[in-house]
Amino acid sequence: MAKEKQYPKDDREGVPTTVYQWGPTLARMEVDEALKMILIDEYENNKKNKKLDYRKNLAGQLQHETGYTDESKKKILPYLDKYFKIYEEARKRYFNRPNDKPRDYVLSALWINHQKQHEFNPPHDHDGALSFVIYLQVPEVLRIENQTEEKFSKSSGPGGIQFIYGEGGGRDSVNFVSHFPKEKEIFVFPAWLKHWVCPFKSDCTRISVSGNVYDVTASKSLLKK
Ligand SMILES: [Fe+2]
Repeated sequence: MAKEKQYPKDDREGVPTTVYQWGPTLARMEVDEALKMILIDEYENNKKNKKLDYRKNLAGQLQHETGYTDESKKKILPYLDKYFKIYEEARKRYFNRPNDKPRDYVLSALWINHQKQHEFNPPHDHDGALSFVIYLQVPEVLRIENQTEEKFSKSSGPGGIQFIYGEGGGRDSVNFVSHFPKEKEIFVFPAWLKHWVCPFKSDCTRISVSGNVYDVTASKSLLKK
């Protein structure tokens, strides 16, 4: 009778494994007080300017969405710059491309959202290369509403933001990120990344500033030729 073939015993200490994280680079940071202050001041200085009503450009079901003037944008940009640099470093690490050349971004749009009771922002994306949102005011009453609702649901809850990516893939795929914001937090994300903001029942105003930047690195290098 033929002898049964013996296969080697697995005597490795563990199984070499690589788990791939993939999807868009989404970063959350905390901005400094100066950026928060200049965003509020520049809005206050220009809020009577009717030309800055930004609602026609946006998906949001909000009564008050107001743009910033070009002059305000110029003043604000130096305060924003560092957060894009941090995002770029994070993106290079995420893609494992440490030698990528720095990108040159231009701030193309900047607006402030005053979200009130029952208002919401349906799923949408933005123009440009990268987008961001900075939270200037998240009232305590809204935070309490969110925490109360959180017990009953897995979503970001009232006043929360949700980023959505991918086609699903059952329960083995992470295809959304939910977050209830704190004041002075900033999200930076690819402009095409879909996101939406839940309504809330509290009688208060949640204030955020959003914007888009374009990457002009390629066009600048063309001009040099
Ligand atoms: Fe948005």
